[in-house]
Amino acid sequence: MRVVILGSGRGSNAEAILLAQQAGGLGAAQVVQILSDQPDAGILALGARFGVPAAFVDPAPFRTKLEGPGEDRFIEAIQAARADLIVLAGFMRVVKPRFLGVFAGRVINLHPSLLPAFPGLDGIGQAFRAGVKATGCTVHHVTREVDAGKIIEQASVPVEPEDTLETLTAKVHAAEHRLLPAVIARLSRLPQ
Ligand code: GAR
Repeated sequence: MRVVILGSGRGSNAEAILLAQQAGGLGAAQVVQILSDQPDAGILALGARFGVPAAFVDPAPFRTKLEGPGEDRFIEAIQAARADLIVLAGFMRVVKPRFLGVFAGRVINLHPSLLPAFPGLDGIGQAFRAGVKATGCTVHHVTREVDAGKIIEQASVPVEPEDTLETLTAKVHAAEHRLLPAVIARLSRLPQ
């Protein structure tokens, strides 16, 4: 199963996936390409470290969505990599129907809350401020409705009275780093 990872930030989840792959823990999945919409994103530096092609793809003209010429460029790059699975790991841009049509059923996203609670931006901060007793992270299929696609798997993180936003953030990230590689490994073992 050929995996393409899309991310906009530091890439700690992409790193977790690549470390799992190095350790033989990614099932039949293999990361074949990393793509970012941010030219200076930390995620791009993982390419050289893990021997995986990594590239910035110009997402213009929009700032928060992938549509039009930028969408075409991403579609082309993903098709060139012959992706079976597209993993959005901190890709901070809304993907649109054309993209989802081309890669129907093959796009998954990681979100830092127990969806359907706290969709959108800053899932961890939203949960912390709401005072919930548990939050976590979700891997789900990507559909037209943001953060509303079918849930594949979730990991729960208890919120302790002494937690600060910082400690809770670290716990949710640690849960993400376990969950996402495990889900990819599991998907790779399903008949395609
Ligand atoms: C992760 O916490 C991921 O859940 C979140 O961005 C972070 C990326 O971190 N994604 C979203 O909020 C998507 N709505 P990373 O770049 O270190 O993997």
